[in-house]
Amino acid sequence: MTATTISAKGETLAFPQDFVWGAATAAYQIEGAARDGGRGPSIWDTFSHTPGRIADGHTGDVACDHYHRYADDVRMMAELGLGAYRFSVAWPRIQPSGAGPAVADGLDFYDRLVDELLAADISPYVTLYHWDLPQALEDRGGWTNRDTAYRFADFTRIVHDRLGDRVGTWMTINEPWVSSVLGYGIGIHAPGRASAAEAFRAAHHLLLAHGLSAQVLRDAGAREIALTLNLTPVMTPGQVSDPDLVPSAEDSEAVNRIDCLINRQFLDPALRGKYPDPVLAIMERMGGVDHIRDGDLETINQPIDLLGINYYTPCVVRSEPGEPANAAYPGSEDILFSGTHAPTTAMGWAIVPTGLSQLLTRLSRDYPEVGLLVTENGAAFNDVVAGDRVHDADRTAFFEGHLRAAHAAIEAGADLRGFLVWSLMDNFEWAEGYNKRFGIVHVDFETQQRLPKDSALWYREVIRHNGLHRERARRPTLEAVAARAGVSRSTVSRVINGEGTVSDEFRAIVMHAVNELGYVPNSAARSLVTRRTDSIALVVSGSPTEARADDPLFSVTVRSATRELEESGKRVTLMLADSAAGRLRVEQYAASGHVDGVVLVSAHGTDPLPAALARTGIPVVSLGRPAVATQTPYADVDNVGGAASAVRHLLARGRRRIAAIAGPPEAVTAQERLRGYREALRDTGHRSIIAVGDLTLASGADAMRQLLHDDPVLDAVFAAGDLMAIGALRVLSESGRRVPDDVAIAGFDDIEAASYAVPALTTVRAPREEQARAAVRLLLRQIDGGPVSSTILPTELVIRESS
Ligand code: FCB
Repeated sequence: MTATTISAKGETLAFPQDFVWGAATAAYQIEGAARDGGRGPSIWDTFSHTPGRIADGHTGDVACDHYHRYADDVRMMAELGLGAYRFSVAWPRIQPSGAGPAVADGLDFYDRLVDELLAADISPYVTLYHWDLPQALEDRGGWTNRDTAYRFADFTRIVHDRLGDRVGTWMTINEPWVSSVLGYGIGIHAPGRASAAEAFRAAHHLLLAHGLSAQVLRDAGAREIALTLNLTPVMTPGQVSDPDLVPSAEDSEAVNRIDCLINRQFLDPALRGKYPDPVLAIMERMGGVDHIRDGDLETINQPIDLLGINYYTPCVVRSEPGEPANAAYPGSEDILFSGTHAPTTAMGWAIVPTGLSQLLTRLSRDYPEVGLLVTENGAAFNDVVAGDRVHDADRTAFFEGHLRAAHAAIEAGADLRGFLVWSLMDNFEWAEGYNKRFGIVHVDFETQQRLPKDSALWYREVIRHNGLHRERARRPTLEAVAARAGVSRSTVSRVINGEGTVSDEFRAIVMHAVNELGYVPNSAARSLVTRRTDSIALVVSGSPTEARADDPLFSVTVRSATRELEESGKRVTLMLADSAAGRLRVEQYAASGHVDGVVLVSAHGTDPLPAALARTGIPVVSLGRPAVATQTPYADVDNVGGAASAVRHLLARGRRRIAAIAGPPEAVTAQERLRGYREALRDTGHRSIIAVGDLTLASGADAMRQLLHDDPVLDAVFAAGDLMAIGALRVLSESGRRVPDDVAIAGFDDIEAASYAVPALTTVRAPREEQARAAVRLLLRQIDGGPVSSTILPTELVIRESS
């Protein structure tokens, strides 16, 4: 690398000096030993032993057998360099029936665990309630019974009496929203009841339990007291890829209502001593507010030191008049819970790291009195053990994205004190049983062998360096200035552009923040200060015959990306990487600082360029999902969903023998479209019939001939590209088949020729221009050091005469 390299290699994106790095678990999910040491049954024992409740009938009877293996587990934590370990105390291990004297064995276990942790220099962070309510208390009404809150205060006292001399950080209740809504509101968690009124009662009593427990802890001299909530940024679909988008008034109302239910129903009583009005109004409708007694809100509103944040995914909603309420959100009439078009984890949860930065800055702005701790963040993926390694690049990328987001929030002023990954190891994932793996350590549930995944090894490095590799030049963003000054982005921009509409007072505040942060707004000045080149390489990878020449949308994509870059004041260098030499040239060019970043257009699964560019440390965004999971963020279109929608449409037209003309198997897009076809058919039990083409018209014609030969009575065809569909149309007409009467046909891409075909072609429109713009925005954000989330844009079915 030369002196002009813009990425400062070896530097770290540093976190505050005393930042806490750790991992979390919960008792029922890992301990096993369900009947050892006099432990009583909890609602999760009952629930998991009820047929049909948990995937594959799994239970927590053995789990990770941590009860017996805790010493080895602590050794493993020490090897990973964890500074803190968050675990929960199983209430029924201490008080088997939820009341009365403690069982010695239960307390002894946690006593030994704490000692072991301290000896390994790991701070124990104790959660008092992570969902395993003693069954005996449930038999008396569980959390719908006010008395349970008082029993919890007694339990708190017992545990603190024993561990308080060595445990400094205490979390009262974990995720009261999940406990109350999933457990009592819709019944997919223990105890499995389904009533909105009961869910609100349970939620209130969980909050009361928190308040009472916090009082006990405070009186006993606990150092740090926390409440852990599943806080969820609520946003419109558009805001997922563009957080700055201003929603319509109707959508804002939808966002606010859901925010009140999922977040402020808990935040406001705990931190402000009141329920938000919209929540009270909904409670009134759902069964009244009699359960809220005088003085409760004062009890709930105890001073606490930390707010524990469990963040996984945002909640995406928009206004949709006439939409019935979602059972998990009583009172959510006229709101549509929309699927997002971001990539997802194995749980189907959208991956949106920017949600975390938004959440953290918002919390520090709205509840400045409390420090923040990420008590859970993580992802389930379908891990594969390869020898003695688990290459879980997706999980590493997930953490990397979320840590960048957390760092951005700290820079914007959020008081974040630590980050605990969920989870230390694979475990019993509640209703999903052992099928969903969240660990950074792999667990073989047959042998109980632990194996740190690649993400754990990566995390160890993060901890060691107290941060991430910086890998890209950072400079303060407009958002950072706005957050520091406490004004909107548009105010900052108006001040910077010298508009006279801002008062002198605000102008002074903004300029103060600009100076403090060293924000350089002018692009010419910026390139002087930051050694920016203001040039971006647009790299097209893969051999031209293979991929591009016959992709009619390719030029649209390149043109849109170029336009978007130029409009942002960037120079664009178009580069071809169609050979090994070409790839090397691109790599060297990028690494030697000629450009600030790369937009990569690469369609082939075997392309080594994404990984090679990622190693140079230069910001890269891929147009289309790279086949091998890398850290490279991408903008893609929903190929799977689009293909599935076309096939479902053919099914809805009464077609039963639906063949597919797939694209070249090495192309990611083709793989995804084929998956969509298969998914749509799978639901119906119809068999798949597949021929493969190479996206050209001639290959579509050949594939169609073969299909007619193999299955003369087929009645529909889905082609993974419009040109192939048009080739197929020709063969159908040559063979005397009427379209759509005999054979209906649908393509993909909506190229111009689709509407001129005879008959006009039903197809799936992929928003290529938007995709290109989204990729460019991702890249610019990344160059600015901001957190980025990959994005997948929705497709649209265009129905014409061919189906
Ligand atoms: C949270 C729970 C935790 C774990 C993760 C995936 O809601 O607190 O126990 O199951 O989700």
